[in-house]
Amino acid sequence: MADSSHDQAPLTRTHVRLGWWSLACFLSLGFLLELLHGFKIGFYLDVGNEHRRLMWTLAHAHGALLGMVHLAFGLSLQAAPSLGGNRQPVVSTCLVGATVLLPGGFLLGGIWVEGQLAALAFLLVPVGGALLATAIFLVARSVPRPR
Ligand code: HEM
Repeated sequence: MADSSHDQAPLTRTHVRLGWWSLACFLSLGFLLELLHGFKIGFYLDVGNEHRRLMWTLAHAHGALLGMVHLAFGLSLQAAPSLGGNRQPVVSTCLVGATVLLPGGFLLGGIWVEGQLAALAFLLVPVGGALLATAIFLVARSVPRPR
């Protein structure tokens, strides 16, 4: 287990900062989607482009939710400094990787809808999902039991 007297401020700051920036980026994407609806843009709304709409909606939703996961992890470290135990660097790296790959894969999957690039983009999603699952498992395992 990590030393609970260890200063968690840098890790907290990193994840709180990443959390707010992820929210800022992916909520902006939400506004962009709203504009595509408002101006009835066929590239996004036409029946033949359902796949693109689904991918970008998923990028928006997963990016925003991952922002909240960063905030939860960063702030939880203040209440439970040993969260993640001696795997804290692994947890931190997995969360950052998931934030790039999961929404990034969906975003690219809506740009490259067909062909090899689309397959490549879609491959990023399960890798990001696995990183997120690893981080969550390591954190869950380290949460101290209530006395
Ligand atoms: C933390 C905040 C937010 C979260 C967790 C979130 C999450 C989601 C989720 C889960 C969906 C999919 C809903 C569905 O298809 O059933 C969605 C769709 C959408 N969100 Fe957000 N959202 C957030 C904030 C925003 C903001 C600030 C905007 C900008 C106005 C926005 C704009 C949209 C739009 C336009 C869609 C529909 C996309 C489409 O179907 O074409 N969201 N959001």
